[in-house]
Amino acid sequence: MKIGIIGAGNIGSTLTRRLTALGHEVAVANSRGPQTLAGLAAETGARAVSASEAVPGADLVIVTIPEIRVPSLPPGLFQGMPDNLIVVDTGNYYPRQRDGRIREIEAGLPESRWVERQLGHPVIKAFNNIYAQHLAEKGLPADSPGRIALPVAGDDARAKRVVMGLVDELGFDPVDTGDLNESWRQQPGSPVYTADKDAEGVKQALADAVRQRAPEWQATPDSPGTFEAPA
Ligand SMILES: NC(=O)c1ccc[n+]([C@@H]2O[C@H](COP(=O)([O-])OP(=O)(O)OC[C@H]3O[C@@H](n4cnc5c(N)ncnc54)[C@H](OP(=O)(O)O)[C@@H]3O)[C@@H](O)[C@H]2O)c1
Repeated sequence: MKIGIIGAGNIGSTLTRRLTALGHEVAVANSRGPQTLAGLAAETGARAVSASEAVPGADLVIVTIPEIRVPSLPPGLFQGMPDNLIVVDTGNYYPRQRDGRIREIEAGLPESRWVERQLGHPVIKAFNNIYAQHLAEKGLPADSPGRIALPVAGDDARAKRVVMGLVDELGFDPVDTGDLNESWRQQPGSPVYTADKDAEGVKQALADAVRQRAPEWQATPDSPGTFEAPA
């Protein structure tokens, strides 16, 4: 597949490495410009591009940047793109550590619905609940005992199927969370978050999830602090 990756940090660089190794054609972008991605490009064979260049012609685009940075993407990034362009959101809302208060999410909007509104294109939520290092190192062939499962949420059945296929290719069992309205079940603080469960464990964790954001996942008047000193 032709895959655009917007964000080249922990998750973006991991997915660039893993997806190129699987034979996908990857174009990767960050905010500072392609010249700063020469090393990653040389290592993986991915094309280093600007965010705007990562989208046209792609079959699938992965947006993997801090939540608060989403509005800083070029305006109209997905305008005029075909309806069948699949967009994956790996994002998590970290109000106290990084993002500060995002009013709509605090009011109960699932994080990925908020991202979708900013992007103006439907998204599939995936890869948000696993540490980048585990995504890099813990994939296993299908049917391996203890294979980690990853939840995938989204409204479009075809797009979700494609993303679930990609999860499997990367070495993880995909589990369907439901539509994007249900994606709060895999948000930070939920039982499935960073828990590295197998498929049965993920299904149970999704069923056990509680809608209300726990206090530590809500902004305060002082937010954001830092990961070292959340506020
Ligand atoms: N870290 C994890 O283990 C993990 C796991 C699951 C999900 N997540 C979530 O996935 C998202 C990405 O996390 P991360 O840890 O990979 O972040 P990160 O290491 O902080 O990297 C963020 C990347 O986003 C890029 N970026 C920021 N604004 C941009 C813009 N306007 N245009 C293009 N690129 C932009 C940055 O580029 P520059 O450096 O050039 O600014 C950087 O490459 C977050 O929402 C995070 O919560 C993280």
